[in-house]
Amino acid sequence: MKKIMVLGGNGFICRNLVSTLASGEDEIYSFDLNIPEQRLPNVHYMEGDFFDDYVLHNAVKGMDIVYHGICTLNPGNSNDKYMQGYTRDLVQTVKLCDMLRENNARMIFLSSGGTVYGKQEVMPIKENVLAKPINHYGNLKLCSENMIRVFNIQNNTDFRVVRISNPYGPGQDYHKGVGFIDAALKRGLAKEPVQVYGDGSVVRDYIYIQDVCNVLAYLGKNLGKHDIINLGSGRGTSMKEILEIVRRYIPDLQVEYLPSRSVDVPEIYLDNQRLLHLYPMELTPLEEGIKKYYMYLKEQ
Ligand SMILES: NC(=O)c1ccc[n+]([C@@H]2O[C@H](COP(=O)([O-])OP(=O)(O)OC[C@H]3O[C@@H](n4cnc5c(N)ncnc54)[C@H](O)[C@@H]3O)[C@@H](O)[C@H]2O)c1
Repeated sequence: MKKIMVLGGNGFICRNLVSTLASGEDEIYSFDLNIPEQRLPNVHYMEGDFFDDYVLHNAVKGMDIVYHGICTLNPGNSNDKYMQGYTRDLVQTVKLCDMLRENNARMIFLSSGGTVYGKQEVMPIKENVLAKPINHYGNLKLCSENMIRVFNIQNNTDFRVVRISNPYGPGQDYHKGVGFIDAALKRGLAKEPVQVYGDGSVVRDYIYIQDVCNVLAYLGKNLGKHDIINLGSGRGTSMKEILEIVRRYIPDLQVEYLPSRSVDVPEIYLDNQRLLHLYPMELTPLEEGIKKYYMYLKEQ
């Protein structure tokens, strides 16, 4: 039985991850600024600030595996808040790596497949291309990844970087700056227009949250040989195509088109062969995932 800590355990991805991990045999800890109102009986919830060294040190002491899912930037706000990202998030992630090195603990770092690569010529994008982020959020993730890689080389640590594409599903909140499917379904159900930056041709790699969590749970125990792994569907879908699928359930969905943003690259989808080699799995088809999420929201 392992002791597993999820940092940011009340967020979208990590809350789903906590509940996936909690169905196994291990001892699960969830650390966040906020503790959820509805708690799982077999999870240890810890309330604390990631940026408090003493608190963080105590939280990760004795853990075998730590998932790091705290980031105060997102692609939309990072051109305003980049200094916070480089001076606080990056520095605290270095401190976390050092704490985990002392403890001999593994780490899975939640990076961003949608932003670290920047504009690439060849799709789907393989892990070994030169990453050239075009916004500070993606660059913050890349800086953290490089630091993690050097820890593995110089300090014999077992840290892994998972570049997640565009997850969607229960627990997401598009108000936080990401989540087009979430926005389209929720705004459609509320009879409000969904906002689209550009003409709807922007292509992303959408993946159902439960698939993401299954993979993350597996990787915690089965690191594989690669420092970096893409976690995506391997398929590119435009916003227009998403709107078409959502209209099957919400036919009167309204769209408000806004000017495109400089922080968005036109097309991204990830090669997931490295992942499927390590963990052969059936991914939830996009149409099925959107339907599942729609049904879930209708029931709320
Ligand atoms: N959502 C995506 O589309 C996506 C895609 C790729 C990678 N990621 C990365 O995955 C991770 C999780 O993303 P998410 O969308 O679930 O984020 P989220 O914002 O839903 O969750 C982050 C959690 O961190 C907590 N947190 C923030 N500051 C904290 C602090 N000082 N101390 C303790 N807890 C703190 C928040 O309370 C929140 O519960 C992030 O690192 C993000 O960059 C997200």
